[in-house]
Amino acid sequence: MSRLVVISNRVAVPKADASGNQGGLAVALLSALREHGGIWFGWSGETTEQFTGEIHRTEGNGVTTATIDLEEQDLDEYYNGYANRTLWPLFHYRIDLTEFERDFAGGYSRVNKRFADTVMPLIDHDDLVWVHDYHLIPLGRELRDRGLKNRLGFFLHTPWPPARLLTSLPSHRKLVESLFAYDVVGFHTEDWLDSFRRYVVDILEGTIDEDGCAVVGDRRVHAIVAPIGIDTAEFEAAARSKEARFARDRMHMSSTGRSLIVGVDRLDYSKGLRERLLGYERFLANNPDRRALVYLLQIAPPSRATVDTYQEIRSDLDALSGRINGEYADIDWVPIRYVNQGYPRQELAGIYRAARIALVTPLRDGMNLVAKEYVAAQDPDDPGVLILSTFAGAAAQMKEAVLVNPYSAEDMADAIVKALEMPLAERKRRWESMIDGLRREDVFWWCRLFLDALEGKHAHEHA
Ligand code: G6P
Repeated sequence: MSRLVVISNRVAVPKADASGNQGGLAVALLSALREHGGIWFGWSGETTEQFTGEIHRTEGNGVTTATIDLEEQDLDEYYNGYANRTLWPLFHYRIDLTEFERDFAGGYSRVNKRFADTVMPLIDHDDLVWVHDYHLIPLGRELRDRGLKNRLGFFLHTPWPPARLLTSLPSHRKLVESLFAYDVVGFHTEDWLDSFRRYVVDILEGTIDEDGCAVVGDRRVHAIVAPIGIDTAEFEAAARSKEARFARDRMHMSSTGRSLIVGVDRLDYSKGLRERLLGYERFLANNPDRRALVYLLQIAPPSRATVDTYQEIRSDLDALSGRINGEYADIDWVPIRYVNQGYPRQELAGIYRAARIALVTPLRDGMNLVAKEYVAAQDPDDPGVLILSTFAGAAAQMKEAVLVNPYSAEDMADAIVKALEMPLAERKRRWESMIDGLRREDVFWWCRLFLDALEGKHAHEHA
């Protein structure tokens, strides 16, 4: 079996305790790395005065990680700049928030070269190489330019924007052409894959062949759909853990009989938090008799806090949650508990299990794993209702959720009423259909699907 080299901006350090607080992606990639052997390479999260390319290695639990420090300027131009002020908003259809600075593009290209220079000597000739996410799109091209001949794959964890939006990026053609250095490129949904194909056909004047490969001149890339899953069994068990039970009891006690509606999101404008609060406010306004029967717990840990747009969304939400609470609260009830911190996975699983409704209403999202975790955490005898944005990648798989248009406050208010009134039999029927899908298409399935394609085993391709 070939070794695996995973390359991403952030690296999850394997914990000796396998039940630790790892995200789903980390769990899957670490298990693939353990199975294949190999390395996870990326940024250490630290800065250094002068870039040296010195590699920090850790070995633990059967996995090797190798990380490098970057300079402050790299952080400004590559991570905060091109990745998070240019590509992130653009890929989430927010051209109004997209910044087009030449320095950012320069820093992005410099850091991708730095990654290529330092990881290249770590790669053996028959390793499978798997690059992740928008931070590192040109890395494949850089590695090929340094003579890499290995099977090389790329997976995008965000949406891929429509061609007409992408063409607003000054160097869009170079960026997309660099994807042709990979053998396989993966997206979460048909929508994102279609947008990529449209760009190839309309802008690069390429074709899509009968195997689904995108072809431009003599270059060819196998573009696939591989929707990421969660470690469903692990999360179902987490929801039954002692910590989860404790969190659930704590929620029940403080709810004093009211139904909990939960939202959990990184504090990011793509998550539709403003629209969600406005939808919930509309529910309160339209349903005076139901007001004191519910409350919303919105958990929103801050993210990318040095970027202006993230500071703005934070102060915007502070003001909005304060205003709604001021307007609707009573002496013994606040409509919104707004919390700017994250929680350990098991505790979160208990909170999900306590919640009668989850509001997962991003304006645009590559997949959204909160939707999947909420469903996995439910009590099979009394499952809650998932209200899900049609603009989340997860909506393509989770058709039994109550699907909403997050831009419409009325739509969201109606969905909350529908969820509160939904009979147990219907809740069970919807939940059973979703949990079946989550068990079948979990994160290990996703990993295998992508790696099979990378190894050239097309038979397992997602239909
Ligand atoms: C999204 C991206 C990931 C990123 C994560 C957290 O899920 O697709 O690549 O790691 O957000 O963002 P951060 O900037 O903190 O890494």
